[in-house]
Amino acid sequence: MTLPLDIDAERAATPGCATVAHLNNAGAALPTEATLDTVIAHLHLESEIGGYEAEASVRERIDAVGASVAALIGADPGEVAVTGSDTEGFTKALWGLYLGGGLERGRRILVDRMAYDSHYMGLLQVSGLAGTPIEAVPSTPDGTLDIDALEDLLATGDVALASLTHVGTHRGLVNPVADAVARCRRAGAVTFVDACQSVGQLPVDVGAMGCDVLTGTGRKWLRGPRGTGFVYVRTELVQSLRPIGIDGRSATWDADDHYRLEDGAQRFIPFETPVAVRLGLGTAVDHALDLGIDAIATRVAAVAEELRGILVTVDGVAVHDGGRHRCGIVTFTVEGQAPVDVAAAARSAGVNVSVTERPAARLDLGGDRPERVVRASPHYFTVTDELARLVEVVAAVGAR
Ligand SMILES: Cc1ncc(COP(=O)(O)O)c(C=O)c1O
Repeated sequence: MTLPLDIDAERAATPGCATVAHLNNAGAALPTEATLDTVIAHLHLESEIGGYEAEASVRERIDAVGASVAALIGADPGEVAVTGSDTEGFTKALWGLYLGGGLERGRRILVDRMAYDSHYMGLLQVSGLAGTPIEAVPSTPDGTLDIDALEDLLATGDVALASLTHVGTHRGLVNPVADAVARCRRAGAVTFVDACQSVGQLPVDVGAMGCDVLTGTGRKWLRGPRGTGFVYVRTELVQSLRPIGIDGRSATWDADDHYRLEDGAQRFIPFETPVAVRLGLGTAVDHALDLGIDAIATRVAAVAEELRGILVTVDGVAVHDGGRHRCGIVTFTVEGQAPVDVAAAARSAGVNVSVTERPAARLDLGGDRPERVVRASPHYFTVTDELARLVEVVAAVGAR
């Protein structure tokens, strides 16, 4: 049974809740005081005993961060590398696949229409070199990845890689990635999943999803510090990946003309890492594990649905999330008002929201859909009063 969260306690443990109505958790969430303390304590330790010495003294705790992320996503610790961002992990895995010979010329790369800019542009770079054209799987009318259309594209059997998005940056619908991944794998494709906007707000289990690679970030729904992320690579695939950007931690220079990559996801971990924020990520992930991801998901979905329910009652407001399964990202426009002006008005009233524009997700924004939307992303610690503050601003802007 999923127990409800103690929202008052969570807010009391989050200093930012006292100063702002933070509805930009899809950008970067408010951290807990415990996460902040972890980061600051390690910076102090570095200044007192030296950076390398401080690292050596917390070696086990650093390793435990990867183990916590692995526990969160149902992976083995050896399959997870903590990175500086989602994009860093994605890039290393993608180039690792390319340099490891996993993208044969003439085969195709499939993406869904939720694809995020850094992933798509990375695919463009590799696709040009590898000679593997990119094709986008159509969406159903409600915006969800179209499973039947995917089957049709897979039927030719020449798909080398499917790069799929669990939750887009710009829209609150949840794609059926487990189903899509299963079909792609049956068709012989390597599967990458972008869980950047889902991990921390939705259950993400690599076993259930069946993907080969999955990437996420720390600062968003996990409430970790900025400059943190992770990449998961399935054991059976990882030894064939030849990542770029290797150094003395990810590999060993074992002969004048030779190097040996570390085993498992260790080959993605660089020598130089910001230890303090990585420890902070560990505190944040452990907190999510303590609360329980099911309880978090239930609460986030309920708060977001509450917000959508109020927003649609405001004259001139259109909500754009679509999909049948929705999460904590709520996107909307106000008739006759630029999203950037709506966001600025909210900011002046002490409410943080963001704006997502077409270049961030251009396969889905634009055309019949808006070019830019306001994005409100409440978290489990968001309360009704904060939603009401946003709606008041939106109504006032709409009435201008
Ligand atoms: C859907 C999605 N994927 C990937 C990313 C990239 O994450 P990062 O900035 O940590 O590389 C983002 C960032 O906003 C995102 O929203």
